[in-house]
Amino acid sequence: MSVPSSVSDPAYLRARAMETLFERLENLCEGAIAIDRNGRVVYVNEKYLAALGLKRTIEAIGRPIEEIIPNSLMRKVAETGEPILLDIMELGGEQLVVTRMPIEDERGTVIGAIGFVLYDQLDSLKPLLARVAQLESDLRLARRQLSNARAARFTFADFVGKTPAIAGAKELAGRAARQSVTVLLTGETGTGKEMLAQAIHNASSRADKPFVSVNVAAIPDTLIESEFFGTAPGAYTGADRKGREGKFRIADGGTLFLDEIGEMPLQLQAKLLRVLQEREIEPLGSDKISKVDVRVVAATNVDLRKRVSDGAFRADLYYRLNVLSIDLPPLRDCLDDLPEICARLLEDISASGDYVNAKITPSALAALSRYDWPGNVRELRNILERALILSDSGRLTGDDFARILPVGAETRLAAPARPTGIVVPYAEAEAEFEKHTLEQALAATNGQISEAAKMLRISRATFYKKLAKFGLASGPSSV
Ligand SMILES: Nc1ncnc2c1ncn2[C@@H]1O[C@H](COP(=O)(O)OP(=O)(O)O)[C@@H](O)[C@H]1O
Ligand SMILES: [Mg+2]
Repeated sequence: MSVPSSVSDPAYLRARAMETLFERLENLCEGAIAIDRNGRVVYVNEKYLAALGLKRTIEAIGRPIEEIIPNSLMRKVAETGEPILLDIMELGGEQLVVTRMPIEDERGTVIGAIGFVLYDQLDSLKPLLARVAQLESDLRLARRQLSNARAARFTFADFVGKTPAIAGAKELAGRAARQSVTVLLTGETGTGKEMLAQAIHNASSRADKPFVSVNVAAIPDTLIESEFFGTAPGAYTGADRKGREGKFRIADGGTLFLDEIGEMPLQLQAKLLRVLQEREIEPLGSDKISKVDVRVVAATNVDLRKRVSDGAFRADLYYRLNVLSIDLPPLRDCLDDLPEICARLLEDISASGDYVNAKITPSALAALSRYDWPGNVRELRNILERALILSDSGRLTGDDFARILPVGAETRLAAPARPTGIVVPYAEAEAEFEKHTLEQALAATNGQISEAAKMLRISRATFYKKLAKFGLASGPSSV
């Protein structure tokens, strides 16, 4: 047979190439499937059937691709005309290396898509795949945390409370707002640290510049440096090829809120200290240093001083952050503010739901003030919200809370508990009651004798005498 003249005909060659390639690929690969532009299966090869849980090709033909391969990206390829040349796909608990390409007609219109399973023996790649999966989940977590970093919406007016500790904190924060000093906010979780940070920003001359919030504990150690300082163009291959701005750069001119600063890795603490001192940043993989103008407000609910003595936190950074520190009191220490805080929270909750006429009664306030609030105002908010959901009238009473305050949680008992049936002499009961009252007053005032005496409307001298009588310590009760 003579060689047809068409061997040098480009169209013929192309057609042959297509066919050869297709046959080769189909033979070499572990499976092939094709859909039309409506996402319906038009072809599946024998090899692929078992992996798809099918017996005959006819079972697949005409069905939407997703019924055969849940989460398939084939339809996307047929719709966009964009190939996905290399991907890892999960099918029935197995991971497969796949490629997907659009199918075009003579005029270049996309009329479907074809996919090949290139490789299904991934055992040798397991460590690599596990690493990819880990990085993906780290990245998802970090992205979610970063997108939560919303703009500042709270002001000092939102921060309610008149008891000395809250008023003092607010006053200090007001001073801090007028300058650009670094501020350290300390206090248990839910005491309003983030809220106060936003209020400081909004009352400062930086108010119209960004407020950027970063939860240090939420960023994986491997990403934390680039999140803070950014990466230079070309420092990494892949998605970061163009370089990335760090949080310091994004917050330029404004405020950077560093939540849970105590969780910062030591190595990064040194770099943060440098930025605070020099006001300069150096993106990863870059040798260019640039100026930034950022006010840092840091927050922690752990005892940073203890972390310093444990060697987990740099002393020099601690002093740098501690220029102006503001301690937010736990809710159990400002129960006098309970009515006002509850009123504000209820207003807020009502505005975001459809509980009109939400009211709180004195019996409810009494119940709430007997609980010790380990989660502070955040927990109070949750409890109020739960009570409203369960209440028919929106008028909250002590009984409403008896049902939902955590059981077995430490509540302050009105009087010392004694098993029923046990009766003690009157004088002994009286002494117990008296001692308990003194302890309560001390706890409420954080061990401040004059304050405690004032609360009980007795003189300081009397207070001291009674302390001695019951062998109670007279120093600050907090450790
Ligand atoms: N003094 C306060 N007045 C009104 N709302 C408060 C107060 N303190 C805290 N909150 C509310 O409590 C919740 C927790 O506050 P947040 O600032 O996130 O606490 P932290 O950062 O200390 O964990 C928020 O809904 C906040 O609005
Ligand atoms: Mg917080």
